[in-house]
Amino acid sequence: MNKKQPIGVFDSGVGGLSVLRHLQAQLPAEQFIYLADQGHVPYGSRSAQEIIQFSQGITQFFIQLNVKAIVIACNTASAAALSLLRQQFTLPFVGMEPAVKPAAQQTQSGKVGILATGGTFASARYARLTAQYAQGVSVWEDPCVGLVPEIEAGRLDSPTVHQILQQALTPMLVAGVDTVVLGCTHYPFVLPVVEGILGTAVPIIDPAPAVARQTGVVLRQHNLLADGSQSGGVRFITTGAAEPYAWQVERLLGLSGVGVETAVWHGHQLSVGW
Ligand code: DGL
Repeated sequence: MNKKQPIGVFDSGVGGLSVLRHLQAQLPAEQFIYLADQGHVPYGSRSAQEIIQFSQGITQFFIQLNVKAIVIACNTASAAALSLLRQQFTLPFVGMEPAVKPAAQQTQSGKVGILATGGTFASARYARLTAQYAQGVSVWEDPCVGLVPEIEAGRLDSPTVHQILQQALTPMLVAGVDTVVLGCTHYPFVLPVVEGILGTAVPIIDPAPAVARQTGVVLRQHNLLADGSQSGGVRFITTGAAEPYAWQVERLLGLSGVGVETAVWHGHQLSVGW
């Protein structure tokens, strides 16, 4: 492993771009490869076993592309696969989890709301997290069914998005929740709608900046932090269709003229092109 190698970042789709933007801001000399597994999105309604297989295939693919570390920019994949991947592969992984701990620390009412996928809520990792950090705190959960497909389709302000979030957040507000966690990396892209419903009095926690900081810490620990002798950049790859992906990347990251590549699943293995 050396400092010049890229960092692999993956999500089921475009959600992890909300993490990538913080990674790029905090680690500007790093080269990233961002893989959106849009051939399988959404992960949130799939079994843990399936998500483990996808995550293993993506890890092997990234190793072929010579990455030095992997950031799982997906709460659902981290919940299902992170601990197993760490056992099976030697390169460093950074994962995500809903920010239950900071929410439990900062709530005044003792009531917090978590928006995440059904897969994340059903995981043993999430159960451990709430058992450990949310004792004495009431946790209101909502899986926001249908929200990830809307965001994947580029509909960030549609009536469906408003309806899903209204249904999720209104009972939380009525119950007196005073802190809300975005526990899925897609959701920061509908932050204006969430803010419109919650108003300014309810803080919203997006763990992406902390994940980017943690990535820097892990790279430094392994002596793998890029030293500035190279310029940073991103290679964008999707297992779905190239054209809508390029459009989404440009729109969500405020870029233009982005080139994207496709990767194809053959059983549990992933390879570039077709
Ligand atoms: N963005 C993902 C997460 O953070 C997964 C969304 C999905 O594919 O359901 O959980």
